[in-house]
Parts: sequence; structure tokens; C-alpha cells
Amino acid sequence: MAKCCFYAVGTLSLLLLVCSVTLLVARVFQKAVDQGIEQNIVLKNGTEAFDSWENPPPPVYMQFYFFNVTNPDEILQGEDPRVEETWTKYLQLTPDYVFQRDLSVGDPEVDLIRTLNIPAITAMEWTTNNVLKEILEGLLKTYQQKLFVIHTAHDLLWGYKDELFSLISIFKPDISPYFGLFYGRNGTDDGDYLFLTGEDNYLNFTKIVEWNGKRSLSWWAAEKCNMINGTDGNSFHPLISKDETLYIFASDFCRSVYLKFSDMGNVEGIPSLRFTVPPEMFANNSDNSCFCNPSGNCLGSGVLNISVCKNGAPIFLSSPHFYQADKKFISAIRGMNPNKEDHETFLDINPLTGIILRGSKRLQVNIYVRHIDGFE
Ligand SMILES: *[C@@H]1O[C@H](CO)[C@@H](O)[C@H](O)[C@H]1NC(C)=O
Ligand SMILES: *[C@@H]1O[C@H](CO)[C@@H](O)[C@H](O)[C@H]1NC(C)=O
Ligand SMILES: *[C@@H]1O[C@H](CO)[C@@H](O)[C@H](O)[C@H]1NC(C)=O
Ligand SMILES: *[C@@H]1O[C@H](CO)[C@@H](O)[C@H](O)[C@H]1NC(C)=O
Ligand SMILES: *[C@@H]1O[C@H](CO)[C@@H](O)[C@H](O)[C@H]1NC(C)=O
Ligand SMILES: *[C@@H]1O[C@H](CO)[C@@H](O)[C@H](O)[C@H]1NC(C)=O
Ligand SMILES: *[C@@H]1O[C@H](CO)[C@@H](O)[C@H](O)[C@H]1NC(C)=O
Repeated sequence: MAKCCFYAVGTLSLLLLVCSVTLLVARVFQKAVDQGIEQNIVLKNGTEAFDSWENPPPPVYMQFYFFNVTNPDEILQGEDPRVEETWTKYLQLTPDYVFQRDLSVGDPEVDLIRTLNIPAITAMEWTTNNVLKEILEGLLKTYQQKLFVIHTAHDLLWGYKDELFSLISIFKPDISPYFGLFYGRNGTDDGDYLFLTGEDNYLNFTKIVEWNGKRSLSWWAAEKCNMINGTDGNSFHPLISKDETLYIFASDFCRSVYLKFSDMGNVEGIPSLRFTVPPEMFANNSDNSCFCNPSGNCLGSGVLNISVCKNGAPIFLSSPHFYQADKKFISAIRGMNPNKEDHETFLDINPLTGIILRGSKRLQVNIYVRHIDGFE
């Protein structure tokens, strides 16, 4: 008897769930949904979940802020770098980046930004012996390549023809003569994904099993760092709880990342749980030592060396303004002003449906410059 009633309660709660999920989905996507939850939370062609997964409904904006270096000559004399922040904004209609003039400050094709000469610094990092160093030092002098360059914001993002890379590309055809932080990214995706549908278990909804044919990465020093965990961050399974760690595989970070619950809230009346990147994710601790190449060689908390998956370019990712990073990074550059409101990465997720109601992914691209013997 007790068993029968237990089942009855089980069925009842499932039915209640169907109603609330469809109502919420209807409110979020302003579209009537009349199918059951089992069909809707499975990633299958023809379901509502599939449609919204394939074409995420609201526009996703991508904003780019640049740091303009104001004291290049003094830096070479040993002074701390000084930077001024400027910004420009693009509307990303995945996978195309379309510039939104009315939402931007300035004009990316006109505004000049003084920043590091990344191709030259990368080439210096590539030189492994004295002969190559001498050849490169000669080339840098011939082409009058300096440590700092001035380019338009547009060129820095989408690519400019670099004299040094043009020359190197003659000998190494896999090197492009063009350099830009987002060069080649417009209109392309980051590879092939194999997702689970969640048909067998809703916890597996849109979970990634393979990226470009591989079940794990090979850049890092231990298996746990190479794991491809979670979804791509555009969708999560329904019935999210506060105790969960939400894993996201972020190909631009070259690793899986995670978020943890921080606050409850609501977005236009719809209940939400806020998940944020906890400081321990990029901390210098034993869990993360396999992300420090070679293992254990950490620069400090709050920065991630992704040189290994960027062709040897000394690129380090961090939160904007080194938010949550070691103080030494923040104080080394004049013009850093880290704060939670502007620089935190967060997702507001409706716990019942797993739908993202609001979110911001924020990161800063840093170039690590060191003195390399043999270069003036
Ligand atoms: C989904 O099914 C429709 C109709 O059968 C088909 O036209 C469409 O290409 C399918 N989409 C995908 C991504 O398989
Ligand atoms: C990206 O490509 C689209 C389509 O070709 C084009 O409209 C857009 O201007 C390009 N964006 C940039 C930043 O070059
Ligand atoms: C950045 O600095 C350069 C060099 O001083 C200057 O020409 C340029 O106008 C500055 N850019 C912005 C957006 O302030
Ligand atoms: C799907 O979920 C079940 C239960 O959580 C789990 O045992 C299984 O390994 C998952 N499948 C994959 C491929 O992760
Ligand atoms: C992937 O998930 C496992 C737990 O399932 C965890 O131990 C591991 O550290 C995670 N790796 C990354 C890179 O997030
Ligand atoms: C960053 O990683 C690269 C490649 O794994 C390594 O050679 C380099 O020494 C690292 N840089 C620093 C400053 O730790
Ligand atoms: C990173 O942590 C280790 C172990 O706690 C410590 O020995 C090392 O000095 C730290 N490195 C930096 C750069 O803070």
C-alpha cells in the first residue's frame, strides 16, 4: 500500500514539473510549448530544446576593450607600464561578428591602439638557438620592429599583414603572414563537437563527449587537467541545484572550466541561481599545478598560460584587470582597477529548466614579455 502511494506522489510531482517547465519556457521564448518535458529536454531534432540549442534566441554581444600603452619609451627604461582603457563593441551573430556602431564608442577602423608587438615577441620565443636568434635580431633591426606597435583596433582583432610573419611564412608555410587576436575567427567555428542528448539521463543533456574527434585534450601535464568536462556553456541540464559544480569546456581557454553557486535572484521575475567562476579555479594550488607548464611552474594565482595551444605565442589569460589574481599583477601595471561588478564571469540560470537567463563571460588576453638574451 505504502509503495503504491509513493509511486502516486512520484507521478504527481512529475506532472507539476511538466506544467511549470512549459510555462517558463513559454515565457522565456514567448512561444507556446505543448509537448511533454521528456521530449523537450532531450537534444533531438524536432524538439523545442533542439531548436533553442541550435539557434540561441537572444543576441549575444561581444565587447572588446583595449589597453592603450601610454609610456612605451619609459617601459624600456624599466618603468612600470601605464595603460588607458578604451572600448569598442561588436554584436556577435554567431558565427559572424557584425560591428554595432550605435552601441560602440569610437570607430575600430580609425581608432589607433598602441600595444605590444605580438608577432615579434612570439618570434623571439620561437628562437631556440643562437643562430636563429642572430638571424631574427638582424631581421628585427632591418624591418625596424619595435617592442610596441600602433594599429587600428580593427586590425588588432581581425588581422593585419605583418612583415616579420610574412617573411617567416616563406620558410614555415604553416605560419600565416597575418596576425590578429581573432584572425580567421569570423564566420568559422571552433571545431566539431559530439554531444549527448540526455535521452538516457537528463544530467547528460548537451554534455560534450568529443571535441574534434578527441575525448580529452593533450596540452596539459595530467589527465584531470586534460578532461573535457560539461557542456559548451550555452545550455545546461534541467533541475540545477545550488550544490552543483557546473562544468564548461571552453575551447578559447584550452581547458574545461567550472562555475559555482553564489547568489539567488531573478531575471525579469523568473527565478535564477547565479553561478560564478570561483577564485580557486585559477589559483596557484596543487589542483591546478598540471596547468602550469612545465608542471608546477606557476606564475601565480589568476593567470593561465595557454602558450602551449597558441603556437608558442606567450599568451596568458586572466579575468579583466586581473580580478581575483595575485596583487603583484595588479600593481605591476598602472591602470588596473579590478572589481566584481565589471570583471566577474557569471551565469544566471533558471534552476528548473537549466536555461541561461543572463550571463557574462569576461576575460583578458595578456602577453608575457621577458628579457631574452641576444635581443636588444
Ligand atoms: C532536422 O530535421 C529537419 C526536417 O527533417 C531537417 O530539414 C533538418 O536538416 C534537420 N536538422 C539537423 C540539424 O539535422
Ligand atoms: C564577418 O563576416 C560577416 C559576413 O561575411 C561580415 O558581414 C562582417 O562584417 C565580418 N566582421 C568583421 C569584423 O570583419
Ligand atoms: C592610443 O595612443 C596612441 C599613441 O599615443 C594615440 O595615437 C591614440 O589616439 C590612442 N588611442 C585612443 C583610443 O585613445
Ligand atoms: C550519463 O549519466 C549517467 C548517470 O549520471 C552516467 O553514469 C553516465 O556515465 C553518463 N554518460 C556519459 C557518457 O557521461
Ligand atoms: C573534470 O571533472 C572531474 C570530475 O568529474 C574533475 O576531477 C576534474 O578536475 C575536471 N577537470 C577539469 C579540467 O575541469
Ligand atoms: C608557458 O607555457 C610554455 C609552453 O608550455 C612554456 O614553455 C613557458 O615557459 C611558460 N611560460 C611561463 C612564463 O611560465
Ligand atoms: C605557488 O604555490 C607554491 C606552493 O604553494 C609556492 O611554493 C609558490 O611559491 C607559488 N608560486 C607563486 C608564483 O606564487
